[in-house]
Amino acid sequence: MKKNQILIIFILLFCNILYISSAIVILPTNPLLHYVGRIDNTQSTNGEYYAFAWSGCQIIMNITGVSEISAVLNSQQTNWFDIYINGDLYQQPFNVTLSPPLQQQIKIATNLDSKEIYKVIVSKRTEAEFGEVRFYGFVVDNPNFTLFQYSPPTGRKFEFIGDSIATGYGDMGKAPCPFTESTENVDVSFAAVIANELGGEMNMAAWEGKGVIKNYGSSTPTSTQTLPDLYPYILPLSDNSSIWNPKNFVPDVLVIALGSNDYTDPPYPTQQEFESTFISFLKTVLLGYLPSQPKLFFICGVMIGDPVTCTYTENVSNIFNGTYIDMPNIQDSSDDFGCYGHPTVIAHAHMASIAIPIIKQVMNWE
Ligand SMILES: *[C@@H]1O[C@H](CO)[C@@H](O)[C@H](O)[C@H]1NC(C)=O
Ligand SMILES: *[C@@H]1O[C@H](CO)[C@@H](O)[C@H](O)[C@H]1NC(C)=O
Ligand SMILES: *[C@@H]1O[C@H](CO)[C@@H](O)[C@H](O)[C@H]1NC(C)=O
Ligand SMILES: *[C@@H]1O[C@H](CO)[C@@H](O)[C@H](O)[C@H]1NC(C)=O
Ligand SMILES: *[C@@H]1O[C@H](CO)[C@@H](O)[C@H](O)[C@H]1NC(C)=O
Ligand SMILES: *[C@@H]1O[C@H](CO)[C@@H](O)[C@H](O)[C@H]1NC(C)=O
Repeated sequence: MKKNQILIIFILLFCNILYISSAIVILPTNPLLHYVGRIDNTQSTNGEYYAFAWSGCQIIMNITGVSEISAVLNSQQTNWFDIYINGDLYQQPFNVTLSPPLQQQIKIATNLDSKEIYKVIVSKRTEAEFGEVRFYGFVVDNPNFTLFQYSPPTGRKFEFIGDSIATGYGDMGKAPCPFTESTENVDVSFAAVIANELGGEMNMAAWEGKGVIKNYGSSTPTSTQTLPDLYPYILPLSDNSSIWNPKNFVPDVLVIALGSNDYTDPPYPTQQEFESTFISFLKTVLLGYLPSQPKLFFICGVMIGDPVTCTYTENVSNIFNGTYIDMPNIQDSSDDFGCYGHPTVIAHAHMASIAIPIIKQVMNWE
């Protein structure tokens, strides 16, 4: 059994001026930690922390020999996380509220059997709108721990480009409710359900209120800071020198669910403006994946003010030989409406159940 980078270090928790000496820390740089999503490992000079922002970013480990695990994090604004142990949701989600340079040490698992092997997933369930999160490592209670290689269930890779719907905005609430970070959970959005059910890993660039060319609430027919404008960045609220390298995660399946915000309120962009911006954005995205050519799937119909505009999305899908998945009237019972009318967990499951057979068929997956 190989001991991997066990470092005895001092962590200062300035919140309570609490000094934890001789803590056993699994550093972010440990090669046996598995990361999913857009992670920046270059922000700190010696890898003291890794940074990320987009929803669905995950830190995964396969560990034995411990009975207690804590994560050390901080966050620009409040971000929420889910913990999965051996595939099951573990107790309550947690939030990170302290911002740098403060650090929060959060107990994520207790009373583990040190003889068992555990797959532990920490998943960021809130979106990039709430800023950068820094991960400083895991603290464990036994120096005899062992980390094993983690292998995902399949090699399948999914990318989702979207807005509030993909990122699970308000999906934990029941209408009428105001949005709070705690009501947002990407881990149960249609995107995560699709990726999980098909055994794949998910990389997501979705942001509530963002459109292809016009954002929600804009008084002009076009906006700045649209999803295409934000897409290149790993840490869009804190450091735009941190550019995502598409070669780090080349998807097999690229699902685009964008365009609801462009046509929520007048003044509307013209069909031509919308389609041409959409096309040039996706051309740029696909260029980053060459010579690989992900299969494209376009979803439209949920929370769409004017259903005719779904034909614009279908036009764009046709240009890319994509598969257009129409989802009209998904929300047909009061159980389907979460905060500000967004799909609930139930409505997301319904969306996923429509998309999954179509994706399987196009991909020729069992
Ligand atoms: C963070 O989580 C705690 C415990 O669930 C909760 O009491 C608190 O209100 C949350 N803070 C924020 C800012 O959401
Ligand atoms: C770690 O393993 C060594 C050798 O197997 C053992 O002597 C020691 O008690 C263990 N320590 C803990 C904290 O389990
Ligand atoms: C975790 O490690 C064990 C021991 O090497 C291995 O059998 C198991 O498949 C690993 N689990 C995952 C999900 O990779
Ligand atoms: C990064 O770029 C986006 C899109 O233009 C912009 O909204 C954001 O404010 C920029 N962030 C920083 C930290 O400059
Ligand atoms: C684009 O959509 C319009 C409906 O607005 C339709 O009439 C037209 O045939 C479509 N064009 C292409 C090239 O698919
Ligand atoms: C779409 O398919 C047609 C016919 O097979 C092909 O000529 C065209 O190059 C394809 N376009 C894209 C963007 O893949």
